[in-house]
Amino acid sequence: PDFWAVIPAAGVGSRMRADRPKQYLPLAGKALIEHTLDCFLDHPGLLGLVVSIAPEDPYWPSLTCALDQRVQRVDGGAERADSVLAGLCHLRERGARLTDWVLVHDAARPNLARGDLDRLLGELADDPVGGLLAVPARDTLKRAGADGRVVETVDRSVIWQAYTPQMFRLGALLDALQAALEAGAAVTDEASAIEWVGESPRLVEGRADNLKVTRPEDLQWLEQRWAR
Ligand code: C5P
Repeated sequence: PDFWAVIPAAGVGSRMRADRPKQYLPLAGKALIEHTLDCFLDHPGLLGLVVSIAPEDPYWPSLTCALDQRVQRVDGGAERADSVLAGLCHLRERGARLTDWVLVHDAARPNLARGDLDRLLGELADDPVGGLLAVPARDTLKRAGADGRVVETVDRSVIWQAYTPQMFRLGALLDALQAALEAGAAVTDEASAIEWVGESPRLVEGRADNLKVTRPEDLQWLEQRWAR
């Protein structure tokens, strides 16, 4: 199906210990966020893309992709969910239909494979709720006590890591995010807002290398991988 994309990119990325937010760090000759946007701009189903940028951000305007007609900028908010909500509100104001699909994807995930994007779109095209790319837990998982000792081993066969893109209908996601934020619920991804209103998003298995760049070594790993 055709779809809109919302890319939250208003974080500061303090864990990178870098001189600028991680989405602007250089990776294989471009800013990291330019690779992220390319995954979507190269897709024929894209209707348009909204990127949420911090209000005083000096880096975004100098990027080539800021000039692309399909890319619109909005001001991000204090938390990731606020930045996503700003992007969704912009889409609604610009005439997107409430039944349109929206894919929300972290700016800090530049290694989204086209195959994963197509599988997500294909598997959820007729889904009543929507869903997300996710990766099954690989390691043995422990629940810890406050004293740093193991309380129990968790059954990993039912545990998945939530990745992005996350794909929901514009109206449903707007309503869910607004309701969850107003109630003060913990909204760390779009699926958690959808869950909060009682729906069950579908998990679509994705590649583990669609990682969110969080620490300096993540960037080095991608750089080496792409060099090969
Ligand atoms: O900090 P973290 O890696 O979890 O952020 C995930 C994504 O959300 C990043 O692309 C970041 O720029 C974005 N974000 C945002 N607005 C915030 C905080 C994070 O758009 N207030």
